[in-house]
Order: sequence, then C-alpha cells, then structure tokens
Amino acid sequence: MIDIHSHILPCVDDGSQSLEESLAMARAAVDDGIRQIIATPHHANGRYDNPAGGVVKSVASLNEELRREGIELEVLTGQEIRVYGNLVEDWLGQLLLPLHRSSYLLIELPTGDVPKHLPDLIHELRVMQLIPIIAHPERNQVLLNNPKRLQELVELGALGQVTSHSLNGVFGKKIQEVSLQMCKSNLIHFVASDAHNLTSRSFGLTNAYHVIEGKIGKDMADYFKRNAQAIVEGSRIEAKPLVKATKKRFFFW
Ligand SMILES: [Fe+2]
Repeated sequence: MIDIHSHILPCVDDGSQSLEESLAMARAAVDDGIRQIIATPHHANGRYDNPAGGVVKSVASLNEELRREGIELEVLTGQEIRVYGNLVEDWLGQLLLPLHRSSYLLIELPTGDVPKHLPDLIHELRVMQLIPIIAHPERNQVLLNNPKRLQELVELGALGQVTSHSLNGVFGKKIQEVSLQMCKSNLIHFVASDAHNLTSRSFGLTNAYHVIEGKIGKDMADYFKRNAQAIVEGSRIEAKPLVKATKKRFFFW
C-alpha cells in the first residue's frame, strides 16, 4: 500500500520526535502493509515551517537510515501546506512541494473554519495546473457539520483525503459516519494515515480499507488504492462523479 500523508520525518513538527521514533514508525508502517510513504510535514501552520529544501534533505537522510536498518519502506517528499496568503508566491519561489513529483498539493485548513479565499485559491492553483487535495475535511468543524461546503470545493476542482483513524472510529462516531458519507458521495479520493506517532496517531490504514470494504464495498477501497498509486506513478487520478444528496420532499396538506 501507499500512504500519501504522514509525519514520519524526525524532529520537524508534531510527528516523530527522534530518528529512533521514525524508524519505529517505519517498521509499523511496513507491518501495516505500507511500502511507500509520503512524508508531509506541516508547513506554514503558524507553528511549523518546513520549506522544500529541508524536507528533501530530511527525506534523503531517512531513506539512507532505512536502507542501513534493512527496513523495506521508501519515503517520498511532500508537505502538508496550510492555506495561507502567500501560498501561490511561495510555490513560484520553490518553497513548496507537491506530493512526490506529482501536480497534487496536500493542503490543510484550520480546524475551526474555511478561509474565505479558499475558492479563489483552488481556482488559481487549477489554472496553474496544480490540484489541491484537502487533508482530512472530516476533521474541519465547518465541513463536518455541512459536507455540502466540501461538495462546493470539490466542484471547483479540489480533491479530498480522509484519515484512516476517522474511518476507524478513533475520533468518535460522528466523524466516522460523516467520513463514510463523504466517501459514498464521492467527495473523497484518497485514504491516508496522517500518522504522527505509534501511540495516539499511528497508521491503521489496513483497517481503514477493511472498514470501507465492509461499509461501502471493495470497488471503493480499490479506487482509493489506485489513486494513491497514481500519485506515486505520476499519472492522473480518477475522480468519480459526485453523488448529490437528493432534496427532501415536503408535503403540505
Ligand atoms: Fe497531517
């Protein structure tokens, strides 16, 4: 399997806090069936800045350690980029990284709201032939309570990534149910771990795919796996047509 969202790089954000922890996470990823993993350290979220150059070096050095330890996991470059004012300028200034060498950027919203300029940003990125993937929309309060807002963003050309633990029920019943509903409505295009450590936020990707197979079907699980593969291969991902909620009918007597 391929995991497109993780905090496996040591000492760069609130993910792994040491090389030893990164190696332990790598072993756990392999045990979970992951063979390639994109390192997506937080960037520009107000607490952490991880511009492109540093991420590339850190990924190269972690891959070297993995080879030395005989751990069969390949780490690829990426960032989890907070939506911020200078995002486009910083892309042009080569401070930002796509997922591996693709045209897809993993973008993060604040937890409490959806920035007003997000539709404009999605449009601008699409004009530049870049495709934003919204990281864990089910963990954003606005989108959780009103998935129609996510539908609007997807209609503008964004994609969605759900987090394995949301599907696994770790963040509660409501997030689990909304996550499944977002998947069924084709608002989600990827499943990823967003692993931060081996305790509270580990991988759980195999289990998440089992949840999807059980609740939605194997076709949907295979679709998500193919899309993660496409990111790594540099091919275009498949986006199923949106399933829009049917309007409730009200009868007045
Ligand atoms: Fe993350």
